[in-house]
This record gives sequence, structure tokens and C-alpha cells, in this order.
Amino acid sequence: MDNELKLVSGAMVALAVATATLVVLPYMEVRDIKPPPGLSPYTSAELRGRAVYISNGCVYCHSQQPRDSKFGPDGLRGWGRASVPGDYTYDKPHLLGSMRTGPDLFNIAARQPSKDWHLGHLYQPRAYTPGSIMPSYPYLFNVKSAKEAEAEGEKPLTLPPAYGPNVGMVVVPTPDALDLVRYLLSLDHTYPVLPALPTPTSTSTP
Ligand code: HEC
Repeated sequence: MDNELKLVSGAMVALAVATATLVVLPYMEVRDIKPPPGLSPYTSAELRGRAVYISNGCVYCHSQQPRDSKFGPDGLRGWGRASVPGDYTYDKPHLLGSMRTGPDLFNIAARQPSKDWHLGHLYQPRAYTPGSIMPSYPYLFNVKSAKEAEAEGEKPLTLPPAYGPNVGMVVVPTPDALDLVRYLLSLDHTYPVLPALPTPTSTSTP
């Protein structure tokens, strides 16, 4: 009986310590963090696109957490400044990611602001990046006759010649593809997050 008591109380203590260090302390550390002034909340279309991003597993190959130069050359790769907790104010759930099979996307909109490029790249990554191992997402698009697309007022993709459909046919994005690209184009966290350094004045010098 004595041993069982020790086992149970030991387990409770271990659980309490783990909960305090992994849940309570991190929560207290970030709960009062305000969103940076340059960050705006997602629009409803961007949130729909975010759901498409999640359901298609983009997060398994793309991180959204550029690191400080002390931890890796992310800045040199053009992925932007190191992210800060406030950058994630509107990200529920966060999409930090843990694998980088593809580039970090936290600032993809600053790096690649073209809607047409993103649509074409989702339809066929290899048309834009030769040898890319990113999967294509053909089910986010419809192939239909040029006449039909025109009658429905849809704007076809402008794909590199070898990657287009048969003559007379065009590729048009579904609403999911358009929302996904809206979300990608909202990923620009290049605004400054640190307060500007105080400018030295004659009165402040001793
Ligand atoms: C199997 C891994 C994998 C998955 C899943 C994946 N990607 Fe990629 N992605 C890559 C790789 C590798 C590259 C780099 C080559 C290229 O540009 O195609 C890339 C490149 C990109 C780029 C261009 C990045 C840049 O810096 O130029 C964007 C945007 C992108 N992916 C978006 C997405 C979206 C959105 C999804 C989900 C619908 C997705 N990816 C799913 C592997 C992946």
C-alpha cells in the first residue's frame, strides 16, 4: 500500500510540474502580448483560405516561423526577420510547422506578390520551379472550354505553354483556390516590430 501511495503521489507531482512548466508558465508569458500595429486580422475570405491550407496539409512541408540569425540563416534565404509572439495574435490554431521540405511561407506575399503566379504554381509547381517536389493540386481547378469559361465570366490561368490543357480548353480556379491564394497573399509580416531606437539628443548626453 505504501508503495502504491508513493507511485500515485509521485505521478501527481510529475504531472503538476509538467503542467506548470509546459502550460501555465508559457500562457502567463504570452497572454498580455499585443498585436503589432502593422498586423491586421484576417478577412473572412483569408480565413477560408487558411482552412484550405490546413486541409491540404501545406503545413507538413512549409513552416511559418523565420528564425533569428543566431539560430539559422533564414534571413539570408530571404524569409524575413525573426518572428515574434505578437505576429501570431490572429493565428488560431498557429501553423508554425515543423518540417521545411519547402521554403518558410511567413512572408511569402512580400517575396511573391503575384496572384497569377500562386494560382499557376498550385496547379502545377513544375511549370514554375523545374524539378519541384511540391505536389500539384489539380482538384482546386476546373478544366473547361474557353467559351464556357468566358460565358461564366471566369478568368483562366495563364500557364507556361507546355503546361496548359488541350487546345480550346482553359484552366479556371475554384473558389477554394482563390481563397487559398488570398490567404497566401496575406502572409506578409515584414512590418517593424521593435520600437525605433531613441535618437540621441544634446540634452540626454551627460
Ligand atoms: C511535399 C511537400 C510540399 C507540400 C505538401 C506543399 N509544398 Fe509548397 N513547396 C514545396 C517545395 C519543395 C517547394 C519549393 C519548390 C517550388 O517552388 O515548387 C514549395 C514551394 C512553395 C511556394 C513558393 C515558395 C517560394 O519561396 O517561392 C509556395 C507559395 C507554396 N509552396 C505553397 C504551398 C501550398 C499553399 C501548399 C498546400 C496547398 C503546399 N505548398 C504544399 C513542398 C511542398
